[in-house]
Parts: sequence; C-alpha cells; structure tokens
Amino acid sequence: MEYCETTALKDGRTCLLRNGTEADDKALLDIFVLTHGQTDYLLTYADECAMTAEDEARYLKEKAESPHDIEILAIVDGAVVGSAGIEALDTAKEKLRHRAEFGISVDRAYWGLGIGRALTRACIACARKAGYRQLELDVVAENAAAIALYQSEGFVEWGRNPRGFLAREGHWQELVLMRLELD
Ligand SMILES: CC(C)(COP(=O)(O)OP(=O)(O)OC[C@H]1O[C@@H](n2cnc3c(N)ncnc32)[C@H](O)[C@@H]1OP(=O)(O)O)[C@@H](O)C(=O)NCCC(=O)NCCS
Repeated sequence: MEYCETTALKDGRTCLLRNGTEADDKALLDIFVLTHGQTDYLLTYADECAMTAEDEARYLKEKAESPHDIEILAIVDGAVVGSAGIEALDTAKEKLRHRAEFGISVDRAYWGLGIGRALTRACIACARKAGYRQLELDVVAENAAAIALYQSEGFVEWGRNPRGFLAREGHWQELVLMRLELD
C-alpha cells in the first residue's frame, strides 16, 4: 500500500509519514535495532534481529506492492525516527481476512512530539482503506504511554495474558490484548 502525508509536531517541526520503499532498507534496519534497544516493551531484543539490508529491501518492496499491508516511516529533518505497520493475520483463510495486526516504535529521542499518534492514525486509515474490519495488538501491561495512546484512538482491551513475555531477566511481562473495530 502507499501512503504519504505530513504532520506538524508539537515542537513546530514537520514530520513526513510515507510508506517505506526498497531504498529505505538500511534506514529501517537502523531504526529497528535502535528502538528495540531503547525499551523492554517490544517483542524482540535488538540482538535478535536477523534481517539484513537485503531482507529489509525485499520486505519493503513486498509491503509497498501489497494491497493489504504497509510499513509507514516517520521522517523528521530527513531522518527516519519511527515506523509503524499493519499486517494481515492470515490472508489464506477467509475467516481471518478481516483481521490485521498493528505494530509501532519511535526513537526515544522523539517521544512526546506527536509522532506515535500520527503513525497510529495513518495505520488505522490504511487498515480501513485495505478493507479490514478489526485492527489488533498486544501491549505490555506496564507500557502506560502506549496503552493511553491506543485507548485514545479507540482500541479496547479484550483480554490479558499474564505470561505473555518472559524477559531475559527472568520476569513475566503481562500482555494486554487490544482491538479496534473499523466499521
Ligand atoms: C508508545 C510510543 C509509540 C508513543 O510514541 P510517541 O511519539 O511518544 O507518542 P505521542 O507523542 O504521539 O503521544 C501519543 C499519546 O501517548 C500517550 N503518552 C505519550 N507519552 C506518554 C507518557 N510518558 N506517559 C503517559 N502517556 C503518554 C499520551 O496519551 C499521548 O497523547 P497526548 O500527547 O495527547 O497526551 C513510543 O513511546 C514508543 O515507541 N515506545 C517504545 C515502543 C513501544 O512501546 N511500542 C508499542 C509496543 S505495543
């Protein structure tokens, strides 16, 4: 899918939100590794990233050509500072085709400027355009900022998984399961 919008940030700068393309392979890899090293709230650790720049290029090409998936980059002053995307749960199964998953991360240096909300809204708009009926996500229960963002955009909690993640330090991370009806 394609997407391109600009939005004004809280500090007066402009943020470009656009779908990633093959040429963003290195930038996406860099922002993935950076953001996954900045928080303990994401699914994978930075050192678990097995993707190469070639893998990212292939991934971004597929996303750009896909009628139902997208990876949106947030770009400030020419640098990729965050990304978010939607991905079909399972397009091969008719009963699951209405559901998509949402994921997001923003460079910590750019938190609190409105980028997370802008990316979330862009993904919701793309999910509607793609014809999904429900957008879903799992979020660590302690991730108050993300939960506040999701709730304010209409996501509701439908369940919890107390042993969702087992962190390296040995503690459980409870997951809040959220969904947004799109119709
Ligand atoms: C969650 C995340 C995407 C938010 O991005 P962001 O750019 O800082 O978000 P925004 O500036 O657009 O803020 C959106 C809303 O988030 C909430 N929020 C942001 N920072 C917050 C904080 N420190 N405490 C409480 N709520 C906060 C607020 O509701 C805010 O809305 P408001 O500005 O109207 O008050 C970002 O913190 C992040 O990337 N975290 C690490 C990765 C992650 O946790 N991803 C989600 C996995 S499920």
